[in-house]
Amino acid sequence: RFAATPRGPEDAILGITVAYNNDTNPKKINLGVGAYRDDAGLPVVLEAVRQAEHNVLQRGLDMEYLPVAGSHTFVQRAIWLAYGDRIIHERHNRFAALQTLSGTGACRMAGELLTRFLDYGQRTTKPLVLLPNPSWANHKPIFTDAGCDVASYAYYNPATRALDIDACLSSLHDAPNGSVVLLHACAHNPTGVDPTPEQWAAISNVVMDKGHLPLFDMAYQGFTSGDMDVDAASVRLFADDGHRILLAQSFSKNFGLYGQRVGCLSVMTDSQNEADAINSQLKIIARPMYSNPPIAGVRLVEEILNCDQLQRLWRDEMKGMARRIMSMRSMLRDELVQLGSQHNWDHIVHQHGMFCFSGLTEHQVQQLRERFSVYLTANGRISMAGVTSENVPYLANAIHEVTRN
Ligand code: LMR
Repeated sequence: RFAATPRGPEDAILGITVAYNNDTNPKKINLGVGAYRDDAGLPVVLEAVRQAEHNVLQRGLDMEYLPVAGSHTFVQRAIWLAYGDRIIHERHNRFAALQTLSGTGACRMAGELLTRFLDYGQRTTKPLVLLPNPSWANHKPIFTDAGCDVASYAYYNPATRALDIDACLSSLHDAPNGSVVLLHACAHNPTGVDPTPEQWAAISNVVMDKGHLPLFDMAYQGFTSGDMDVDAASVRLFADDGHRILLAQSFSKNFGLYGQRVGCLSVMTDSQNEADAINSQLKIIARPMYSNPPIAGVRLVEEILNCDQLQRLWRDEMKGMARRIMSMRSMLRDELVQLGSQHNWDHIVHQHGMFCFSGLTEHQVQQLRERFSVYLTANGRISMAGVTSENVPYLANAIHEVTRN
């Protein structure tokens, strides 16, 4: 019955790891997936997470089902991390929220909610979700599969390797009123280019003027500045500007809990009644999809956020991850300069977060893979988290070789 099933392509990001794993070159480097590595190139379990794991194990807890919406404590702590004390205090009863299968699950739940209930009873077409150009490769399939229409708005200018704010504002202005605008809260994936506070204010204004609904994807809180509050400034600005907000949070990167699938979708609504109704519908959407979310990872996040000492340790470790990436940016740029590269590589240090949008062409990316076993996504995105002080000379040389005129 499945004989005619066509074979599909590997995933644009996770497929890179598959190819890397099959490569026998001892010098190979995986700069595809956005997953933090230490300076020895190894996956990291944070010390705060290890201590939390120990504490949780000591308690000998059961492994019963979580409620459909997940752990209430976790969800409250998650939205507090995003919005901070003041906004939570002012609007605590206006949030609908549920624990999700990390950021992907949060975006998918957002898409399902939009399809079913955005402008409920008044909408005759699919909701339109506008993604920045470019955006995370998984955004389009997530929202399309959830039943939304997807289009893009101008964001990155390859010529300046920076945000094209004028084009961005005018394409948001020209989009149909009432669109859903997906915004990367910080550490834009894949470009590493974030709006300045003034540019965020201008984006907020046009989103408000046009009656658009902001949907923030915050998968890298902490990775732009090293500080969780500084990185949440965009979301808090929109809250203060009076937007209703959908927020997808991932705790994969900042807690290093990749395989635990810890995330949260929240909706800032107008009233407690609206929040209650959305909460009821989120549970109805989640139940037939996966019934209820996994319990192990959220216990670790709760343990850390409920204990001042662990929280301090975690915030320091988060800062350490961000700083190591920043120092790899400088090292890579400096190595390329020392090699005598004729190209300007300053964008490597000017961009933020886990990724560098290198400007390498698809052909150059292919050359890196074939000649040097250096693996990046086809769009030239480098996961700076995979760069180490040991592999940076090899990487710089490989980039220099494939970009010689
Ligand atoms: C990435 O962009 O590399 C990460 O968000 C991992 C993923 O799932 O794609």
